[in-house]
Amino acid sequence: GEVLVRIAMIGGGYVGLVSGACFAEFGLHVAVVETNPGRLSALREGRIPIYEPGLDALVETNARAGRLTFGDDIAQAVAGADAVFIAVGTPPRNGDGAADLQYVHAAARQIAHALTGYAVIVTKSTVPVGSSRRIAEIIRATRPDLDFDVASNPEFLREGSAIDDCMRPDRVIIGLDQKQPERARRAEAVMQRVYEPLKKLNAPLVFTGLETAELTKYASNSFLAMKISFINEMADLCEKLGANVQDLAYGMGLDERIGSRFLNPGPGYGGSCFPKDTLALSRIAQEAQSGCRLVETTVQVNEARKAAMAGRIIAACGGSVNNKTVAVLGLTFKPETDDMRESSSIPILHRLAEAGARLQAYDQVGMEAAKPLLPPETTYCETALESAQNADVLVVLTEWEQFRSISPEALAQRMQAKIIVDLRNIFDPAVMRKAGFTYLSVGRP
Ligand code: NAD
Ligand code: UDX
Repeated sequence: GEVLVRIAMIGGGYVGLVSGACFAEFGLHVAVVETNPGRLSALREGRIPIYEPGLDALVETNARAGRLTFGDDIAQAVAGADAVFIAVGTPPRNGDGAADLQYVHAAARQIAHALTGYAVIVTKSTVPVGSSRRIAEIIRATRPDLDFDVASNPEFLREGSAIDDCMRPDRVIIGLDQKQPERARRAEAVMQRVYEPLKKLNAPLVFTGLETAELTKYASNSFLAMKISFINEMADLCEKLGANVQDLAYGMGLDERIGSRFLNPGPGYGGSCFPKDTLALSRIAQEAQSGCRLVETTVQVNEARKAAMAGRIIAACGGSVNNKTVAVLGLTFKPETDDMRESSSIPILHRLAEAGARLQAYDQVGMEAAKPLLPPETTYCETALESAQNADVLVVLTEWEQFRSISPEALAQRMQAKIIVDLRNIFDPAVMRKAGFTYLSVGRP
């Protein structure tokens, strides 16, 4: 039979947990190391500490089959591992937006101490160019006797569809130290075995250098962020010119060179990746004294977008929200996640609260995570309709599927003034106007 491939996954957050469970589903043996006691005990009791559709079932099946284990003992996890993946956080460093590598470096030191034989140390976390070589240096300095190689294998999954993205990726990027061809060949052989099941599904494995792999991740996320900022600016322009951004995006997207995805205008992109990765790429380019003006501008356009959307809500209420009740549908940075990191709802709701608004918010799964981040006086509602009670305006911030089927009549009955600011274009303007609403959306007449 086939030789069992063993991997250790350092970090059981979004990326470590999802990709670890997917590797296990492909038949690999996966030992996840998680040091956060709350997260670890949840995982051990079969509870999933994050909201991600399908993840609980995937973890349960593979844990039960003995292919997926959780622990905090790194030595136990890396014993006999062919590859050790680093999937810890790389949040923006306070002050300059560069990625904070302290968790990655700490993981590298721990791995170095724990290893007993050859393994490939694979970075899955999003890290600046040069980080994989730095990790190799740290491991060499910690354990001069150790035989190992490094690889860069950035992760491209999206929250909310993370399992599908992992099981059927568009591509797998694997960076190796091409300056040392023999080592690169040895590491490539391990990575080929790790990704063998995906090859059967025709996912292209792209082998390249360490620096290129690291940069590909930032370039991809920054390009997508740029696409969103572009369509957001086109939405503004459509409003000024009486054009329709939905038809414009459809027309543009039919050109396969452009593609129809990521052309939805909204309240600005958020999440744990785009805001941080665009900033980090700008820093990387600055340090290399290379121009990166499109990405720098993308960051600025997105920041301005959030403030402008708060302004739009205030304008829709006749220039003031003081003492007015604002119903808010959706708080997370996108649907199908409970992740609030860098959600546009945060700056928008703070602005409204500062302007004197009473906030009545509803989100399907994000309210617990939202509480520490939103204005303290925000009221959290049990249902979407409850948030509309006596509201002077209703604002859509996240396009949760359930909001699309809300009855306009039921909203109209509950609201004080019939104004809707739909920042995700989920409703049909004609239907809303027929129900008597003053209906504003983005980029549509
Ligand atoms: P996260 O904060 O959800 O998870 C990281 C986990 O690692 C935490 O649970 C933490 O307790 C654990 N951890 C930290 N140090 C550890 C150590 N030494 N040993 C064991 N566990 C440790 O972060 P995330 O969202 O999974 O992101 C991880 C990386 O992947 C980041 O670099 C991020 O940029 C990148 N990434 C994230 C996404 C995404 O959608 N979230 C997508 C692609 C790439
Ligand atoms: C992103 C990348 O898509 C993924 O490949 C990478 O691995 C991690 O970062 P994620 O942050 O989970 O994934 O969400 P994504 O679906 O990309 O959305 C990011 C933000 O852009 C959200 O706030 C979303 O609302 C916004 N967005 C997305 C738009 O405003 N319009 C669009 O057309 C698409």
